[in-house]
Amino acid sequence: TTTMFARSTAARTLARRAFSSSARAERKVAVLGAGGGIGQPLSLLLKTDPMVTSLSLYDIRGAPGVAADISHVNTKASCKGYEQADIGSALKGAEVVVIPAGVPRKPGMTRDDLFNTNASIVRDLAKACAEHCPKAMICIISNPVNSTVPIFAEVFKKAGVFDPKRLFGVTTLDVVRSSTFLSEIQGTDPKDTRVTVIGGHSGVTIVPLLSQTEVAKGVSGQAYKDLVKRIQFGGDEVVQAKAGTGSATLSMGYAGAIFVNSLIRGMNGEKNVVEPTFVKSPLYESEGVEYFSSNVELGANGVEKIHPVGQLSSEEQELLNACLPDLKKNIAKGVEFATSS
Ligand code: NAI
Repeated sequence: TTTMFARSTAARTLARRAFSSSARAERKVAVLGAGGGIGQPLSLLLKTDPMVTSLSLYDIRGAPGVAADISHVNTKASCKGYEQADIGSALKGAEVVVIPAGVPRKPGMTRDDLFNTNASIVRDLAKACAEHCPKAMICIISNPVNSTVPIFAEVFKKAGVFDPKRLFGVTTLDVVRSSTFLSEIQGTDPKDTRVTVIGGHSGVTIVPLLSQTEVAKGVSGQAYKDLVKRIQFGGDEVVQAKAGTGSATLSMGYAGAIFVNSLIRGMNGEKNVVEPTFVKSPLYESEGVEYFSSNVELGANGVEKIHPVGQLSSEEQELLNACLPDLKKNIAKGVEFATSS
């Protein structure tokens, strides 16, 4: 199943190499919120990733059942479920922690509407991570990502354990959607259709850089506008179709597994593993935007190198101009919550 995560022949070869050289590397991954809509398929996919050696599934409800079920999949990773009182055992020794805990959107809600509930969930999980696995790589899925990543960082700063190279907001679903939607228009194979998405993870803060993708050549005018809009608001299609029962869970589980696979390949020493992800970033710091998603090279210690955004078209510059003020507000809201609570 290594190929499930690989996007090209080159990537497939590299993944195989990483697999053989990673036999020594013990990679314990903890999923917090593992009983939920995202947590379940994500945990299943992580169980099928040959680089994951141990899975620790935690939730305030349901994790032992999910773990018992997934543990019967005949791959080598061990798999154990933990309930609320056991968060310390769940996190002990974890090198990667993935966090899809929290409430999802209902029709008509923005991601920011989730702030009140999810901010305190992420804050409390951050406290537990600071205590039990301060050196782990942390991947935040809980929305609003633009605010929950800064919240997590502030808790780690208070605890004196913050390492900006080890904290990631997972924006991979925006990359996955861009690839799918663009391929649909151009009739290409999504695996050869890769789009860099920068900015943040909600509405207008999502900025796809279609001008940097050969496959997008010729998509212009209204078709371009519609595509950008669909990438920025694709999550709403799922929220509406699920009609009040949740938001993207299966595609997010897939996207989360892709990101964790890339992260571990980087940790295992594979070179040139690059994913867009929302991290503490110098790119727009001078404009007061402390966290920003752009292509990030992943390595043994997490963030190896933050790539600049590169050449933007005039349309993309406009999208970025609309993104930055919103992003700045979302970040400030997270920081304020964490420092005042
Ligand atoms: P869900 O409601 O199906 O599952 C959430 C799980 O979190 C539940 O099992 C719940 O028991 C658990 N939980 C709540 N508080 C917890 C705590 N303190 N500790 C551990 N677990 C806790 O929701 P779903 O659909 O899985 O979505 C989860 C989050 O992911 C939402 O905030 C959603 O907005 C976000 N999301 C993010 C995406 C992204 O691209 N980053 C894409 C889609 C959703």
